[in-house]
Amino acid sequence: MEQKAYITGLGKYLPEEKVSNADLEKLMETTDAWIQERTGIQARRFFTPGKESTATMGAEAAKQALERAGRRPEDIDLLLFATLSPDYYFPGCGVLLQEMLGLQNIGCIDLRAQCSGFIYGLSVAQAYIKSGMAKRILLVCSEAQSTLMELSNRGRNVAVIFGDGAGAAVLEASSDQRGIADVQIHSEGQHAELLYQPHPGTRLRPRLSTEMLQDGSLLPIMNGNAVFKHAVVRFEEVIRANLKEAGIGLEALSLLIPHQANLRISEFLRKQLGLDETQVYHNIQRYGNTTSASIPIALTEAWEEGRLNPGDWIEMAAFGSGFTWGGALMRW
Ligand code: UT7
Repeated sequence: MEQKAYITGLGKYLPEEKVSNADLEKLMETTDAWIQERTGIQARRFFTPGKESTATMGAEAAKQALERAGRRPEDIDLLLFATLSPDYYFPGCGVLLQEMLGLQNIGCIDLRAQCSGFIYGLSVAQAYIKSGMAKRILLVCSEAQSTLMELSNRGRNVAVIFGDGAGAAVLEASSDQRGIADVQIHSEGQHAELLYQPHPGTRLRPRLSTEMLQDGSLLPIMNGNAVFKHAVVRFEEVIRANLKEAGIGLEALSLLIPHQANLRISEFLRKQLGLDETQVYHNIQRYGNTTSASIPIALTEAWEEGRLNPGDWIEMAAFGSGFTWGGALMRW
């Protein structure tokens, strides 16, 4: 049987500080009712600047994944790191993690696919493992978004949604039924400015100015309605495409783990696909939208709860800034 990537260990890290909707009500004109009704979110975690970072959170998740896989840092021959909130503009977080974990001088690939980072990472891992170019891959997704957002009326449409955290997976070669049966990634750059952070970029001199601080252009900009409309279409499309490619029906699906963008998006999707409630995993209520980290955190929790069992078909799908989207169907 052809080799494919399968997950041998999963890990997650959520920073300690819990920020409830009531906490946000004190900082901006919003309400717990508005946030819950529109997104399903009840709380999120914020990292501690100066003590933690995207790389350190990623390292904690990675250590747990390695331990659960029964692997040591020297066993890993490729590191993939996905984030939209790196510690530095350059170099990427991959090299920081390589040093923190004491990995060998292996290649580190930093992936910039925003909310689709985990699925993009799975697709790279699958290709490296199928070709024999790598044997044991560490895929880490981590986000420190709380320092990117403004906790004010001006920033509220974004600030109530996003949270911090990290998830990680160790991927190895499988030559039996286990592993990624199909993974697909997509993009549509004409919508780049519907969800983006305009500055600081490289287009202007100076890259950073006091005007940018004042006019809010350092904040992420999101056209929530447009993102929502595209997301529901692309999620469904890619999930159906994964299933078709693997030749299985929706009834065979044990669990769908959608990127935790919005409970309404996931519920809409569940109904469109005709899945029952036990077939779709949610944890956005506790963590908000953790972008690239949301699927690996949810996958780790599902595993911890005993919801991933040998032979199960697990579908994961993501959509986000870019636009980028993708889906991966895996046999556990
Ligand atoms: O990971 C992928 C990234 N993003 C997404 O997937 C986001 C997808 N989109 C969404 O989840 C939803 O569009 C949102 C949750 C962002 C917004 O929900 P919505 O139902 O589309 O609301 P809206 O943007 O149409 O805003 C409705 C109202 C507006 O007031 P008016 O114009 O009706 O008076 C907003 O100003 O709600 C107002 N509003 C808020 N009110 C209280 C916007 N943000 C807030 C807030 N609290 N935080």
